[in-house]
Formats: sequence, C-alpha cells, structure tokens
Amino acid sequence: MNSASWNERYAANDLVWSLEANRWVVEVASDLEPGRALDLAAGEGRNAIWLVEQGWEAKAVDFSEVAIERAKALAEARLGERMPAFSATVGDATESQGAGFDLVLFSYLHLPKDEWRKALAAGVESCTQGGRVLVIGHARRNLTEGIGGPQNPAILYDPEHVTALLEGLPVEVERAELGRREVQTDDGPRVALDTVVVARRLD
Ligand SMILES: C[S@@+](CC[C@H](N)C(=O)[O-])C[C@H]1O[C@@H](n2cnc3c(N)ncnc32)[C@H](O)[C@@H]1O
Repeated sequence: MNSASWNERYAANDLVWSLEANRWVVEVASDLEPGRALDLAAGEGRNAIWLVEQGWEAKAVDFSEVAIERAKALAEARLGERMPAFSATVGDATESQGAGFDLVLFSYLHLPKDEWRKALAAGVESCTQGGRVLVIGHARRNLTEGIGGPQNPAILYDPEHVTALLEGLPVEVERAELGRREVQTDDGPRVALDTVVVARRLD
C-alpha cells in the first residue's frame, strides 16, 4: 500500500490500531536503559508515546500525513509535561531518518523484499553503537499455522527472513523468534504468530 492508501485507511477510522503499546515493544524496551528511540512506520504512534511515558525521547516517522497528525494529537492528550520528548514527522522508512538513536523500532512494517532490505539498512544506520534495532511483524507462518495480518507472502517475514536481510550489516542478532499472541475470533481463541527480532549495533 502506498501513502495515499494508508491516508485513506486512517481517515476512514477514528483509530486503526490500539492505544496500547505492542507487547513485544513493552517486553524488549523494559529491559533497556531509556535513551533516544526512532519508531519507523509508527502509524498512530502508540509505541513511541508509550516509550516517552517510560522516560525515552521518541521520534515517530510515518509516510501517512493523517497518521502523523493523529499521533501528534494522541501524544498531546497523553504526555503532558513529557510532550517535548515526543516528535512526529512525515517520512519514508526506507530512507535515513537521522542518526544517534539507541532504539530503532519497526512494528508491523510490511514491504516487498527490496524495500524492506533498504528500510532495515537505514534503520541500522540510524542506530548508535550498542543500540538495538527491534523488528516486529506478522510472521509468514501465519498463512499456514496462525491467524491475521496481510495474506500476501511476499511482504510477510519469519525471523529467519529478517536475520538473512541483516547479514552483512554491523549488527549481532540477540533474539530471533516467533512470539505467540492469542486473539479472539468468531470461532473462539486462536494464536497469531509474530516475528520478533532484536539486533544490537556493533560499530
Ligand atoms: C500496520 S501499520 C503499523 C503502525 C505502527 N507501527 C503500530 O505498530 O501501531 C503500518 C504503517 O506503516 C506505514 N508505512 C508503510 N510503508 C511505509 C514507508 N515506506 N515509510 C513510512 N511508513 C510506511 C503505514 O502508513 C502504516 O502506518
């Protein structure tokens, strides 16, 4: 989907994603010392806002203007005197969005392989030495073993697809696994599989 399609999707709904931070973001970031975070393809900013609430300085970037305006409004409503630690800007996650970030986050960004490779490389570039790149996404294995997420295999990735694309970049992979998330469906509870990869920047 291009930015116009995402703008339409956001404009058609008051809130597309939840207000709560993603569970893997909470799990991984809770073990880190707060610093500067870059949330790429941040959508309505739920993760960046939560990070600021935990003491981080966070920059949310998304190519949808509608999402970024909404992220700013939600941040204004939630952050109070912490608001100066939050910023949100329109930008393309496949291009550099600056440097010096201790945590670079991709939460459910699904792109064709070449664009995804560019986004990961740009994300690593934005990360400080010793900082973390956290990738969360709908696993490709959901197509056969799980539920939810896009149904196009070309934009889905399992942990090994992410680690393969990270090869050659200055990172060591600390965690690469499938996370299980229970979701309620009309047929009862089912399990959605998420890819969770944490990479530490080496130099
Ligand atoms: C599934 S949403 C995830 C939003 C958010 N990360 C979250 O977890 O709530 C995917 C987001 O990626 C954004 N997006 C897709 N391609 C992008 C790109 N090349 N650059 C920046 N944002 C992009 C869309 O606008 C959308 O907000």
